[in-house]
Amino acid sequence: MKNNKPVTFSGIQPSGELHIGNYLGAISQWVDMQGNYSCIFCIVDYHAITVRQDPKKLNKNIREIAKIYLALGIDPKKSVIFQQSSINEHTELAWILNCIARISDLNKMTQFKDKADKNQEKVTVGLYDYPVLMAADILLYNTDQVPVGKDQSQHVELSRTLAKRFNKRFGQTFRIPGLKLRKQGANIMGLDNPEKKMSKSAESKNNYIALTDAPEIAVKKIKKAVTDSGSEIKYDPKNKKAISNLLTIYSILDNKPINNLEKKYKNSNYGKFKDDLAQIVQNFLKEFQAKYNRINDKQVDQVLENGADKIRPIAKQTIQRVKSKIGIN
Ligand code: TYM
Repeated sequence: MKNNKPVTFSGIQPSGELHIGNYLGAISQWVDMQGNYSCIFCIVDYHAITVRQDPKKLNKNIREIAKIYLALGIDPKKSVIFQQSSINEHTELAWILNCIARISDLNKMTQFKDKADKNQEKVTVGLYDYPVLMAADILLYNTDQVPVGKDQSQHVELSRTLAKRFNKRFGQTFRIPGLKLRKQGANIMGLDNPEKKMSKSAESKNNYIALTDAPEIAVKKIKKAVTDSGSEIKYDPKNKKAISNLLTIYSILDNKPINNLEKKYKNSNYGKFKDDLAQIVQNFLKEFQAKYNRINDKQVDQVLENGADKIRPIAKQTIQRVKSKIGIN
């Protein structure tokens, strides 16, 4: 990790199926950043346990996420892939940051409010505190850029607030991280409801295309996707939310600018457009799944171990610096 490239850090929870929204909003950016950044990509298992998990499934999911990173083009020769819980300094720094984070900061977090609304009684302290652990993840590695989807912007903003507050009180310690959102694709919407983001916790499986969906199932989901009134294939996220969302998916997966697609489908109808998109999604899934199936568990364990070994010294340095600033070294 010793080079002068800016540092990028991001992560995904190993909790359930990943969908194409996770790929388009987050992982596809990571793949593109590998040449120009020192990249660190985490599997955030401590975040996953903020809601109830089946231990066996969780253990399996951790490896699966690592396989997904590899199969989607994260190259362990260029980037670090590691498991959050294998570096103790994440929770250690989270505790210290807890002591400068305010209840009023966390009360503003909209994602917590959304999640907590569903089941007030069973909401854990961990779920409430989750953005502070995320700030620790980011600040531990002197991160310059955090490439995520739009739903994580507020959490990245909190990491900036905490870093600035700490620096102000204890002297320059943390680099202030920047938020990196895709211009298009930062907020992929549900196929069955273009008013709400695509989400693995959606009620209907027709909301999202999982990376593990059988290609023929994905085709059916695209064909069932909600469309807007009218028949024009035009990018207009205000008035034509559904078609704009499908155009965004098409554009990133097929690497074609949206205005080219608008021209291509100028005289077509939704049916033809959806047929073509379904084919593109199908090809993407087939290629991804073939790569995924070739990766074995041993390979993954090695990648995770090597990744953690590479960056542990950075985490140790940061925590020492932080502890000495606050007077407990
Ligand atoms: P998570 O696991 O919920 O989501 C992983 C990534 O996918 C993005 N994403 C989307 N992007 C576009 N459209 C969507 N519909 C969509 N749904 C999800 C998310 O924005 C995210 O980038 N707290 C984080 C994980 C985390 C993290 C970190 C990220 C922990 N520590 C440090 C960055 C840096 C989370 O739960 O993401």
